[in-house]
Amino acid sequence: MYSGLVHAHSGLRWVVLILLIIAIYKAVSGWVNKKEFKEGDRKIFLFTLIFTHIQLVLGLWLYFISPKVAFTEGFMKITMLRFYAIEHLVTMLLAIVLITIGFSTAKRLEDHTAKFKKIAVFYGIGLLLILAGIPWPFRDLGAGWF
Ligand code: HEM
Repeated sequence: MYSGLVHAHSGLRWVVLILLIIAIYKAVSGWVNKKEFKEGDRKIFLFTLIFTHIQLVLGLWLYFISPKVAFTEGFMKITMLRFYAIEHLVTMLLAIVLITIGFSTAKRLEDHTAKFKKIAVFYGIGLLLILAGIPWPFRDLGAGWF
C-alpha cells in the first residue's frame, strides 16, 4: 500500500501542475482582457483546487507511514529527513492554503475582472511554492519523476 500511495502522490503532481498552469493562463487572460467569468472558468479553478486537496490528503497519509519522515535524533541535520518532515510539508501546506483562499475569496467577489485577478495571484504564488517544494530527482531527495 505504501508503494501505491507514493506512486499516486508522485504521479498526481503532474495533474496538479498541468491544472495550475491551465487555471493561471485562464485567470490571467480573463483579467487582462476583462473577460466575463463563466461557469467553465469556475469549474477549471474548482478542479485545480480539488486536485491540490487530494494531494494534501495523500501527502498527510504518507507523512505518517513514510520511512522518509523520521523524527530521530539529529534529523534536522540530515537533508532528506529535514526536507520531508518540515520543508515539503510547510511549503505545500502554504501553497494549498493560498490556493484555497484564492478560490474562496474570488467566489465572493462580484466584479469578474477582480475574480480573475484574485485567482491569478493566489494560484500563481501557489504554483511557485509547489514548484519549489517538489523533491525533483535532481535534488537528490530520493524521489523520481513519476
Ligand atoms: C500539491 C502538493 C504536493 C505535491 C505536488 C507533492 C509532490 C510530491 C512528490 C513529487 C513526492 C516524491 C514522490 C516520489 O518518491 O517519487 C512527494 C513525496 C512526499 N510527500 Fe508530497 N506533495 C505535495 C503535498 C504534500 C503534503 C501537503 C504532504 C504532507 C502533509 C506531503 C508529504 C509527502 C511525503 C511524506 C513524501 C515522501 C513519500 C515517500 O517517498 O516515502 N506532500 N510529494
